Amino acid sequence: MKTADSIRLASQRDALTIAEMSRTLIEVGLGWSWTPKRVVRSIQHPDINVAVVCRAERVIGFIIAQYCPDRLHIPLFAVERGMRRQGIGSALLRWVETTALSAGIGLIRLEARRSNLAARAFYRAAGYREIGADPRMYRGREAGVRLAKDLWSANTSRADSL
Ligand SMILES: CC(C)(COP(=O)(O)OP(=O)(O)OC[C@H]1O[C@@H](n2cnc3c(N)ncnc32)[C@H](O)[C@@H]1OP(=O)(O)O)[C@@H](O)C(=O)NCCC(=O)NCCS
Repeated sequence: MKTADSIRLASQRDALTIAEMSRTLIEVGLGWSWTPKRVVRSIQHPDINVAVVCRAERVIGFIIAQYCPDRLHIPLFAVERGMRRQGIGSALLRWVETTALSAGIGLIRLEARRSNLAARAFYRAAGYREIGADPRMYRGREAGVRLAKDLWSANTSRADSL
């Protein structure tokens, strides 16, 4: 993440870029479900935050976070291919975790394809634990894993070690 990069809430003008990133970076081989219309509905939804990272006003990463009564769920998250391993994904995830904590939510849950070793390594490095698996999680034909992070205990352990 460069100092000039910025994180902001997405606007409807970002919907096409986010939907295209989902199609080419996340939903590959599964069919395109996160169409621009669906992304716009998420942007407008009162219980969903859609955030983007911009470099020189260009969207280079995004995250979608849905608030449920007892947890926050992340259905979609990506950083452009040429921009990875610069801390952008970590910055987006931290933004979501901080927002969840200030809303009084201490649990984050999400899913990833079992074959997505990069994402699984990323989440592991960010303190997420794999808590389950489903051989047919994606469209009934591709295996996935469930991940979770307890933000309250993560923050308590950090405070304890200070
Ligand atoms: C997962 C993803 C969002 C990570 O974004 P990123 O900006 O590259 O992540 P960061 O640079 O913040 O990485 C932080 C740490 O995670 C780990 N990590 C990230 N990518 C990794 C990889 N390909 N292999 C192993 N570890 C990895 C590393 O520990 C890394 O720290 P380091 O670079 O100092 O070694 C990105 O790879 C991506 O968009 N993937 C395609 C879409 C996707 O899989 N989305 C998530 C599931 S919906």
